[in-house]
Amino acid sequence: MQPTSGTTTSVWMATASTPPEKPLNKNTSANVVVIGAGIAGLTIAYLLSQEGKDVIVLDDGPIGGGMTARTTAHLTNALDDRFYELERLFGEEGARLAAQSHSAAIDQVEEIVAQERIDCEFARVDGYLFLPTNGKKQVLEDELPAAHRAGLTGIRLLERAPLEFWDTGPCLHFPRQGQFHPLKYLTGLAHAIERAGGHIYSGTHAEEIEGGDEARVTTTSGYEITCDAIVVATNCPVNDRIAIHTKQAPYTTYVIGARIPKGSVPDILLWDAPADLWEAYHYIRVAHDDGYDVLVVGGEDHKTGQQHDGAQRWGKLEQWTRNRFPMAGEIEFRWSGQVMEPFDCLAFIGRNPLDADNVFIATGDSGMGMTHGTIAGMLITDLIMGRKNPWAEIYEPSRKTLSAAKDFAAENANVMAQYADLVTPGDIDSVEEIPKGEGAVLRSGLTKQAVYRDEDGILHRMSAICVHLGCVVTWNSSEKTWDCPCHGSRYDRFGTVCNGPANSDLPPVNE
Ligand SMILES: Cc1cc2nc3c(=O)[nH]c(=O)nc-3n(C[C@H](O)[C@H](O)[C@H](O)COP(=O)(O)OP(=O)(O)OC[C@H]3O[C@@H](n4cnc5c(N)ncnc54)[C@H](O)[C@@H]3O)c2cc1C
Ligand code: FES
Repeated sequence: MQPTSGTTTSVWMATASTPPEKPLNKNTSANVVVIGAGIAGLTIAYLLSQEGKDVIVLDDGPIGGGMTARTTAHLTNALDDRFYELERLFGEEGARLAAQSHSAAIDQVEEIVAQERIDCEFARVDGYLFLPTNGKKQVLEDELPAAHRAGLTGIRLLERAPLEFWDTGPCLHFPRQGQFHPLKYLTGLAHAIERAGGHIYSGTHAEEIEGGDEARVTTTSGYEITCDAIVVATNCPVNDRIAIHTKQAPYTTYVIGARIPKGSVPDILLWDAPADLWEAYHYIRVAHDDGYDVLVVGGEDHKTGQQHDGAQRWGKLEQWTRNRFPMAGEIEFRWSGQVMEPFDCLAFIGRNPLDADNVFIATGDSGMGMTHGTIAGMLITDLIMGRKNPWAEIYEPSRKTLSAAKDFAAENANVMAQYADLVTPGDIDSVEEIPKGEGAVLRSGLTKQAVYRDEDGILHRMSAICVHLGCVVTWNSSEKTWDCPCHGSRYDRFGTVCNGPANSDLPPVNE
C-alpha cells in the first residue's frame, strides 16, 4: 500500500494490504458522510450501517493510510494519563466513565471481530505498567487505588512482569487488554460496511464541508454529496480552524520493530510510567510474521516539527530495547507517526463546536486512538440516532476543563513562540546545500520557501507558510514530510497535505 503520512513502512503495512483505491466519480447522496477511513471513521461508518443508515466514507489516501497504519495497536483501558490525574480533572465519576468506555471499546472490537469473522489476530492479552529507570513507585501506589475507584477492580500490584529475561521491578497488572493487526481489522470493517450497503471512496479529498439543513461535502474533483449528517474523522479535524486546536497538541512518536524468535517474548503489553505525565513513555508488544515474531517498541516522543533528530531517537529506542530484550535481532522496521494530545487527557468526540448541529468530530486520541476511535463509533452513532450516551459529557468537544488550565496556557505559549520563525533566517543560505532526497527552508525576501530536492536532483519549491494559521513548516528528514510546529499539519515532500488541521496543499512558488 502507499502510505500517505510518511515514507517509512510499519510492520502492518509490510504484512497486509487494504482494498484498492476507488475514487468518487459522480454527485450522490447519503444519510451520513464520514470523512476519514482510519479506525475512527470506519468504526463510525460500520456501526451506523448496522443501524440501517446509508453511509458514504471518503478518504483522500488509501483505506487506513493515516495514523492507523502507523499505530502499535495496543487496545487498553489503562489510560496513559493515569486514573489519579483523570480524577483530578473530571472527578471520580468522570474517571469511572472513562475506564468504562475504554473497556467497552475493547469489548466492542472483540464483538465486531467475532460477528464479522475478521481475521486480524485479535487477542486478549495482559498489560503491565512498570517504572522507568529512576521512576517513582509512588506513581504505581497512587494509580492502583485510583484505578480501583474507577471500577477496574481486577488490577493488582505485582513484584515484576512475567518475563524471565528482564526484571521490570514492581508493576500494575491490567488483565483482559487486547491487541490486533490494525490494517487487517480495517479491511474487515471496510468489507462489512460494503456488505451492509455502505460505500467507501478512497483517493477522494473532501474539500468543503458544510453542515445545516443543506449539508453537503464537496470533493476536490468537484463532486458533491448531499446528506443529513457529516462526521469528520480525519484524526485532526480539517473543518475546525481554532476551537479544538488550542486544546490539543501534536506529538511525533517513534517505533522500531526487531526480529525475535517465535515465542521468545510472550504476548503481553508493556508500558513504563514516568512521574511527569508529559514525559514520553515506552510502549511494547509483539507482532507476528511468517516464521518469526517482531518486537514492537515505541516512544521518544517530541512536539511535532520542533525536533529534527529522528534517527537518534530510533537509535535510543534500539539501545533501550537491547538493554532489556537480549533476543532482539535485526531492526527490521523504523517508523513514526503523530498523536494529538488533549490537554485534559480525553479525546474530543461529538458535535463540532461553533458549527451546525449535524457536524461531528473525533480527535484528541492521544496514544489511545484504537479505543478512542472505537468509542467515537459508539458515541457518535448514538448521537446521530438520537440516543443518550453516558460518555457524551466527558468527551464533549466544547468542554473547558479548568483544572487543565496550566497545560493549556503552556502549550499555547509554545505555539505563539513558533511564529518567531517568520522573521528568522532560513535553515540554509542556498539550495546548493540541499542533498538529493532532502529538503530545507530558505528565506525568500519577506517570506520563506520550503524546497525539496528529489532523487533525480530536481528542485520542488513551495511556500513554507502553513495554510492553516501561517506558521513556518519544518523538514522532517525521517518521514520526508513538511511538519508544522504549531498545530501539527503535515504535508508530503511535494507539499500535498496529509494531516490536518490544514486542508489544502502548500502552494508551489517560483524561484
Ligand atoms: C506510532 C504510533 C503508535 C500508536 N500506538 C497506539 C496504541 O498502541 N494504541 C492506541 O490506542 N493508539 C495508538 N496510537 C494512536 C492511534 O494510532 C491513532 O490515534 C489512531 O490510529 C487515529 O485514528 P483515526 O481514524 O482518528 O485517524 P487516521 O487513521 O489518521 O485516519 C484519518 C484519515 O483521514 C483521511 N483524511 C484526512 N483529511 C482528509 C480529507 N480532507 N478528505 C478525505 N480524507 C481525509 C486521512 O487520509 C486518513 O486516512 C499510536 C499512534 C502512533 C502514531
Ligand atoms: S497547523 Fe496551525 S499553523 Fe500550521
